[in-house]
Amino acid sequence: MNEFNVTTLGQFIIQKQQEYTFAKGEFSRLLRDIGIAAKVISREVNKAGLTQILGDHGSINVQGEDVKKLDIIANEMFISTLSAGGEVCVLASEEEDTILPLKGTFSKNGKYVVCIDPLDGSSNIDVNVSIGTIFSIYRRLSEPGTEPNLQDVLQSGNKLVAAGYVIYGSSTMLVYSTGNGVNGFTLDPSIGEFCLSHPDIKTPTDAKIYSVNEGNAIEIPDGVKKYLDWVKQDDKATNRPYSARYIGSMVADFHRNLLKGGVFIYPATAKSPNGKLRLMFECIPMSFIAEQAGGKSTTGSERILDIEPSELHQRVPVIMGSENMVNKVVEMINQN
Ligand code: AHG
Ligand code: MN
Ligand code: MN
Repeated sequence: MNEFNVTTLGQFIIQKQQEYTFAKGEFSRLLRDIGIAAKVISREVNKAGLTQILGDHGSINVQGEDVKKLDIIANEMFISTLSAGGEVCVLASEEEDTILPLKGTFSKNGKYVVCIDPLDGSSNIDVNVSIGTIFSIYRRLSEPGTEPNLQDVLQSGNKLVAAGYVIYGSSTMLVYSTGNGVNGFTLDPSIGEFCLSHPDIKTPTDAKIYSVNEGNAIEIPDGVKKYLDWVKQDDKATNRPYSARYIGSMVADFHRNLLKGGVFIYPATAKSPNGKLRLMFECIPMSFIAEQAGGKSTTGSERILDIEPSELHQRVPVIMGSENMVNKVVEMINQN
């Protein structure tokens, strides 16, 4: 990257705003606020092994302070940043049982609704493996100035204004879409800025990586079981056998497959009959990115972005990624 030719996230957002003459700047400020929260969380994640922020929430450290898990730190960071920003009237978080109408001075007039999975891949925090943050943005439905409600949040993916994720990996990246393609920004820690590093990301239509927790294999639907047998067969014409890659952080698994091509599957299991992943906080935003990059995302019978959510913490099975690979899984599900 030529340092004199870098586009920062802030510059990129302003450039995009200028393309919409009616835009008043609130949405741009909201995106900027998400970028700021992401930078602070990235800093905390980077020093996770050095400080007392690991461990179970609820314990007390030697200074007598509460030891907070990174999930809680990330959640609080979003609440405070978005409350101060004033563009968001209500936040929904995977870490909160109910919606959180924000209490900032201007929040009640905020035009936007945000859903977050503040820290995705929690089980990987303590072992220095990539984790992430997932966010989605909707327009509020209730009148500005009134109390926001659950219906403001329970909107289908077709109503998204924007969605994205941050991956705290070997470098920190922010990837997002406003419905006009997908762009990725890498954090340059020396200048503290997200810099455009992956413009207009397109995911391969076909590939050979499959990402699924195969430990669940005996308790998943027969069609998915058949697919997992099929990917291991030897057939040069279809590039099989495929390669298995599974990190256990959706953001990290998704990000790899977005760039390299692949299919990510979290099916229904005996333990989680609707799958494990949350519609509002994980599946809708990631499906939006997948589709915007030319990929596909479905439950096996329904496009994820078409689902009308009925509950805040609703879970759904998900098959997402390279179009031809998703189609093959669905084909095998339908054969059963
Ligand atoms: P979270 O850390 O936000 O609770 O999400 C964990 C999710 C997701 O990141 C990942 O894809 C999945 O759990 C892994 O589940 P298994 O351990 O059951 O494979
Ligand atoms: Mn998650
Ligand atoms: Mn989480």
